[in-house]
Parts: sequence; C-alpha cells; structure tokens
Amino acid sequence: MDLKYIGHSAFEIKLTNNSIMIDPYINNNQNYNWHEANITDIFVTHGHGDHLGDAIEIAKEKDATITAVFELAKYCEQQGCKVKPIGLGGWINYDWGRVVFVPAFHSNSLPDGRYGGSAAGVVIDTENVRIYHAGDTALTNEMKTIKELYRPNIAMLPIGGHYTMDAEHAAVAAHWLGAQTVIPMHYNTFPEIQADVQKFMQLVQINNSNCVVLDPSKVQ
Ligand code: NI
Ligand code: MN
Repeated sequence: MDLKYIGHSAFEIKLTNNSIMIDPYINNNQNYNWHEANITDIFVTHGHGDHLGDAIEIAKEKDATITAVFELAKYCEQQGCKVKPIGLGGWINYDWGRVVFVPAFHSNSLPDGRYGGSAAGVVIDTENVRIYHAGDTALTNEMKTIKELYRPNIAMLPIGGHYTMDAEHAAVAAHWLGAQTVIPMHYNTFPEIQADVQKFMQLVQINNSNCVVLDPSKVQ
C-alpha cells in the first residue's frame, strides 16, 4: 500500500492492483498526474467543492465508480458517472476490500445548492490496514464509537479549524480514535484554515500516536 497525499483532503491509496481516491480536489496540485493511476473507485465524503473536487472528471475518464451517500451519488450519476449510492453504517464490499461510511458533524450541499444528504467520513479496510478519513467534521463523541467498532490504524484528520476541528480538537480526536498513525489534512489551503502543524504533532505525540505530515508538493 502506498498513501499519497495530494493536498487539502485528497488522497490516492495505491493498492496491489488498483488505486482508490478520497475527496479528489486535486487539479490545483501540478505535481500530481492522476491520468497515470489505475483508479477504480472514488470516495466522496460530502458535496462541498473542496471535496467533490475533480471526482466527476476523473470518474468519467477512468470509468471509475463514485461511492457517496445517496443524494450526492445521485447527483454524480446525473453528471454521467457510475455510482454506488450508500447510507451511513453499512459495510460495502469491493474486490480489493470493504468500506463503511461513518457520521461527520458538518453540513452537506450539492454544487447546485440542493441538500446533499449526510456529511460523512469513511473507514477503509484493505490489505490488513484500517484507514479512517474524517471528511470535514467537528470533534464529536462519534470518534469513540469509531474506535470501538473499527479500531483504525491510520486516521486522516482535519486540523484547519473554522469549518472543522482545529489542531487542539484534532489531537483529542486522535487520542479518542487510538490510531497508531495520524495524518493531518484540511489546513493552510485557504486563509481561514491556517494551522500550526508542529503544534499538532506535539499534541498527538503526547498520546503516543505517530504523526506523519505529508507534503503534497512531493507527491508523485
Ligand atoms: Ni465541507
Ligand atoms: Mn472542506
């Protein structure tokens, strides 16, 4: 498995035979060329532009499937994409593993302004690793449930504040989740979400999690 942080909340997870993407808001990263990746599935946590991002363009070119909550998936289908509409809480099976969408404490709208269904995070279970991508969320007790139910090894957490958890709350989330590895995301992209990533690293390491800061300018 190879985890690529493309910037903001966007990741490519390269597996043995294919790649999957989460929240692919990526065309602002000139160092990353998605055309070369074998992308089969795209997971979108909610419909805000910085998460739906380039999902529709990528899905069409790659003939990849977008998995999202029902309302957002139907929107993507109307744009001509293959979709898997899902609800929170049920495991969805794939050739390469399984995924469950979990609650995020955030809003959700479609690009045309309509209601987009529940905002979500995703837990991905593949190649003996469990990855939790929190989407956009405030700190919530739900993370204790996510630990109890799913025991994530890796947690991707927003730290930018304003729209989501800030670094201090994200460090509490990391503690509640108990993940061995924590990856900060959703910071420094816009003026409102500036964050002190060094402070976040220190706060996380107090609780014996390993904080890995990935640099989108070094993605290949
Ligand atoms: Ni959002
Ligand atoms: Mn966002």
